[in-house]
Amino acid sequence: MNEQRVRLRPDVVGIAPYRPGRAAAADAFKLSSNENPYPPLPAVVAALGSVGINRYPDAVSSQLRERIAARWGARPEQVVVGPGSVALLAYLIWATCTPEDEVLYAWRSFEGYPLVAAAAGVRSVQVPNLANGEHDLAAMAAAVTERTRLVLLCSPNNPTGPAISRAAFAEFMAAVPSTLLVVLDEAYAEFVTDPDAVRGGEELPRHPNLVVLRTFSKAYGLAGLRVGYAIAAEYVADALRAVALPFGVTDVAQAAALASLDDEAELLERVDHIVARRERIRSGLLEQGWAVPDPQGNFVWLPTGARTAEIAAHFERAGLVVRSLGEGVRISIGEEESVPKLLRSSREVVEPRS
Ligand SMILES: Cc1ncc(COP(=O)(O)O)c(C=O)c1O
Repeated sequence: MNEQRVRLRPDVVGIAPYRPGRAAAADAFKLSSNENPYPPLPAVVAALGSVGINRYPDAVSSQLRERIAARWGARPEQVVVGPGSVALLAYLIWATCTPEDEVLYAWRSFEGYPLVAAAAGVRSVQVPNLANGEHDLAAMAAAVTERTRLVLLCSPNNPTGPAISRAAFAEFMAAVPSTLLVVLDEAYAEFVTDPDAVRGGEELPRHPNLVVLRTFSKAYGLAGLRVGYAIAAEYVADALRAVALPFGVTDVAQAAALASLDDEAELLERVDHIVARRERIRSGLLEQGWAVPDPQGNFVWLPTGARTAEIAAHFERAGLVVRSLGEGVRISIGEEESVPKLLRSSREVVEPRS
């Protein structure tokens, strides 16, 4: 039969859809999506049961916004809650860019950036990272043009790992126009141990053109419920609310986020375990001869170059589902039992240092 097709936006037809981390076999470890390996806290599970789902959710997440604002020393009007911080990224692009405008970010960075820009019909300008996996902030500042409406800084950078230093951030902010909106995506902030790393909370009062993005998906272990937030100047937050999909954040997600904040100490203890595991993995990999950039999130990056597919397949045969991303392999810090398997497999494929 000769199928008649409807007309889609030609630029949308060209977008490669988001590739989720591969599902893991029952006996494999899923280390491909930077998720939290710990199950939810009992208090969080209990909070879910108390939510009525026949009603629409609180459209503006009032209680959660108030809680977040209080801990950031901000006004609730400055906080926007969304169904994952990736939705807030989309709202930021919708609120700032027309098809003639550009969104600027480092590459390689979070896979979501090119997707949300392309879906909005906005041009992405990608500035290659430095060899050590850090953003090249001088080159990024130099790449700002009249058309740049939004800059996305990812600290720590997914997938390479390093955080932006406070000094480099200050230099960058001084170099770009104060009318340019800069996003500091801190999806992995809770895992950062580098004392020189930039902290969004300290920078927000200094820079009215800054937006900080946070998520409950990583350290708080709520990836499946979809909840994240942005903190910005009130008029910017209003613009995000204006373009947001109505009722995007369920009451279940809001209740879980509030319960997580109540039990934050227990969650951050788990973060400490993940960080300790990350440091052991990093030391093991360095000892084996891998050039691992400084991992400040809940993942490590192996620069595997042309051997990426082969090495990812090797890990998979060992029961470790990792993420291959062009020129490297990103491995999330997962269950304790995955660590010896990971270090055994990485040793088998490392190239001897010449
Ligand atoms: C840097 C970065 N930002 C944002 C996100 C989106 O997270 P979520 O939409 O789950 O809040 C991710 C997810 O992997 C990420 O790595």
